[in-house]
Amino acid sequence: GVVVGKRVKSRRKWKRVMGVLRELEEGCETTVGRLKQVVDAMAVEMHAGLASEGGSKLKMLLTFVDNLPSGSEKGTYYALDLGGTNFRVLRVLLGGQGSSILAKDVERQPIPPHLMCGTSEDLFDFMASSVKEFVEKEGNDSESSVVKKKELGFTFSFPVRQTSVLSGILIKWTKGFAIEEMVEKEVAQYLQEALIRKGLDMRVAVLAYFSLLIYSEQVNDTVGTLALGHYHDEDTVAAVIIGTGSNACYVERTDAIIKCQGLLTTSGGMVVNMEWGNFWSSHLPRTSYDIDLDADSPNPYDMGFEKMISGMYLGDIVRRVILKMSQESDIFGPDSSRLSVPFILRTPLMAAMHEDDSPELTVVAGILREVLEISDVPLKVRKLVVKICDVVTRRAARLAAAGIVGILKKIGRDGSGGITSGRTRSDVKMRRTVVAIEGGLYTNYTMFREYLHEALTEILGEEIAQHVILKETEDGSGIGAAILAASYSSSNSVDTD
Ligand code: GLC
Repeated sequence: GVVVGKRVKSRRKWKRVMGVLRELEEGCETTVGRLKQVVDAMAVEMHAGLASEGGSKLKMLLTFVDNLPSGSEKGTYYALDLGGTNFRVLRVLLGGQGSSILAKDVERQPIPPHLMCGTSEDLFDFMASSVKEFVEKEGNDSESSVVKKKELGFTFSFPVRQTSVLSGILIKWTKGFAIEEMVEKEVAQYLQEALIRKGLDMRVAVLAYFSLLIYSEQVNDTVGTLALGHYHDEDTVAAVIIGTGSNACYVERTDAIIKCQGLLTTSGGMVVNMEWGNFWSSHLPRTSYDIDLDADSPNPYDMGFEKMISGMYLGDIVRRVILKMSQESDIFGPDSSRLSVPFILRTPLMAAMHEDDSPELTVVAGILREVLEISDVPLKVRKLVVKICDVVTRRAARLAAAGIVGILKKIGRDGSGGITSGRTRSDVKMRRTVVAIEGGLYTNYTMFREYLHEALTEILGEEIAQHVILKETEDGSGIGAAILAASYSSSNSVDTD
């Protein structure tokens, strides 16, 4: 009697757990039909964001970058990169046409978490100190009495309303940063003041060993990525980042940027930073886990797309599903308090569980034990964890693919004619179209990448998809920004080779 009772109980328990799983799967459904609706919504929102300020959740920020590197840039350039988890200083030596990047020097420092929500002074002093150390180590090309003019790209990967390539104000923080005093303020100013505090006077030519006269461009990381992509391949029209956060930028015709009439550029185009993390559409497949995650976040109702697709959040969605299952049953053993700790299951760990190919799923077991303090779960339960990771990642990757096709549609490169041009499929010859892409999720998470590629082909159809090339760039936010500084540098514009 007891044994039978146990079996019945265990069957009921699994039924409840399977119910939770089924609900998750339904909530995360991304049929091609639905993805196409997301594509259309993205293109429509892009239009709206370009039509008027505040016309869409998509900010569609002007970058004032109207010329992308061509591959012929020459000289030594610098970049600072504040992106998410790291801060970096770089020096890049460009050799001109055909010789590409000759040398690079990078120094990376993790950003201590307390600086992400402390004061602007602490954050920028931390960066300025790294810059100073880097410059002082530079070696013999900085003669003690010579003040060298350095050209530098400053990558600041947050939403910034630019007023020129040199300056812009921070609209809001994302990705866990929160230094309120900086919102609505000129970002470059903070950098400049910190450099001055550290003795790296940017404007005044002081005769000191580490004197710098810096002309800096300020760009978003997506813009750096697009610049690097274009430097290597001139068919590059857009760039996408899927890392801690997610965002995209692309080249738009200036006459399509209606909110800024009379905008003139020599190229007739300008890079637009979409801030697609904030994209929203009722067509997005949303679950109760997404709603709770959003409500618990420091920025509710904000960055809805990013919260479904980027590295900062995927692990936490999985944690919430496991938590729910453990509340519905005891398949994860006695309650683990760790399961209630937000962000304790980081996305790289989730990826490791998802990609565990050991027959006994020992990686899954190890992570459950070490991180969540859940021990001795049977193989069946470990398989269930892998399945949850799969559902969450697959949805993320497919939505990201839909976002990319949305951009292609907006610029008439999805094979159907742009919604601006009104052409029909038959008179459009699909041109080779390259999208630069990077970010840890795409680069390090094979399943994510494969799901994204698969969805891209599903949405576009094989014939069109073969003309669309996703090219992984490496360190666009650093090297790309340095190259962009080069292409805007006075020395390069007079250098005709
Ligand atoms: C966040 C930022 C955005 C950045 C992206 C990728 O979405 O708001 O500016 O490009 O992360 O780092």
